[in-house]
Amino acid sequence: MDVGKFKSIGFIGGGNFGKVFRVLDTLLNVERAIKIIQVKNAQEFIDAINEAQILEKCRHNHIVDIKEIDVYQISGNDFPCITTEYLKNGSAQGYLDKNFVTTKKAIQIITDVLFGLEQAHNQGIFHRDIKPGNILFADNGQAKLSDFGLAYGLSHQSFDFVGYNSHLPPEVLEGVTQDAISDLYSMGITFHRLLNNLKTLDLPFADDTEWLKALKKEKYPIRKYQPHIPAQVIKIAKRAIKADRKSRFPNCLQFRQALQKIPLAVEWFPIDKDSWKGKLGKETFELNLYSKRTGYFIDFKRNGRKVNDKCCEQIPDEETARDEFFKIIRETTIKV
Ligand SMILES: Nc1ncnc2c1ncn2[C@@H]1O[C@H](COP(=O)(O)OP(=O)(O)O)[C@@H](O)[C@H]1O
Ligand SMILES: [Mg+2]
Repeated sequence: MDVGKFKSIGFIGGGNFGKVFRVLDTLLNVERAIKIIQVKNAQEFIDAINEAQILEKCRHNHIVDIKEIDVYQISGNDFPCITTEYLKNGSAQGYLDKNFVTTKKAIQIITDVLFGLEQAHNQGIFHRDIKPGNILFADNGQAKLSDFGLAYGLSHQSFDFVGYNSHLPPEVLEGVTQDAISDLYSMGITFHRLLNNLKTLDLPFADDTEWLKALKKEKYPIRKYQPHIPAQVIKIAKRAIKADRKSRFPNCLQFRQALQKIPLAVEWFPIDKDSWKGKLGKETFELNLYSKRTGYFIDFKRNGRKVNDKCCEQIPDEETARDEFFKIIRETTIKV
């Protein structure tokens, strides 16, 4: 859709509030993303302006860069349109849909957006909709927080609880409070999903009472972690989504520092269920599980050469062999 000086290149996405297009700013000769917001009343018009003002207030390397907000007439109706930098590498949700997310990648993404969220919190802004779909990748690969459509904190904004999604903490569902600590919980759920490669996170509950009960008992989402994730990382992921607010990270800085303290080594990717490949700088790693007549074997190769003290021979049963296989992955993810 062409609006003003912006010529449409293609449709990118559409949520509840509007449609996002990739466009060319024909005067500056640069690509932009434009969010054309459908407003049904004066309040929604103000909400759209607030989204833009919040982006302006929160300018940061790890927050999507706003260029302008303007009001355009389309078919006789007024539409607030927010233009931002165009990020061609898409969202963390898009990445999750198509790729295996390594432990390293999950940590990198969350570390990046915690910088952005910290900036927002320092400005007194709560995002309130943190999820993989609202994290975008800059051209240099770094992650940025986007979509402040539900954000709150401008002095003239009136507070109400928002959001109805699987990333919300118990206190929001209960209508007790919705603040920085609630944002950090949603960030924790985002981390949980990236770590475990959960493309979706549905709400399987019949009603809110059932949902709230599961949240408070930490039964939802299920605290189950894939076998390749090191214990040190799981500990952080679990703390981030504690039902009890006081047990969570108290601020972005502490969550980020906990992640940055993890001494990451090999980044592992699955090839198939018996074979993973890893990399660390220029070094390459391979881990293979196979069986022979005498039992199960695990080969560990570093730069194409077998490392004998990390290999295993003649393991009697498959379960023990798989446990050992993932133990090697977990250990070398941290130290090799
Ligand atoms: N600046 C951008 N560059 C590239 N893609 C974008 C940009 N902004 C949004 N998108 C894409 O459009 C989708 C919807 O945008 P978003 O701002 O999250 O709106 P909504 O309020 O509809 O969720 C995002 O998930 C993302 O894939
Ligand atoms: Mg969104």
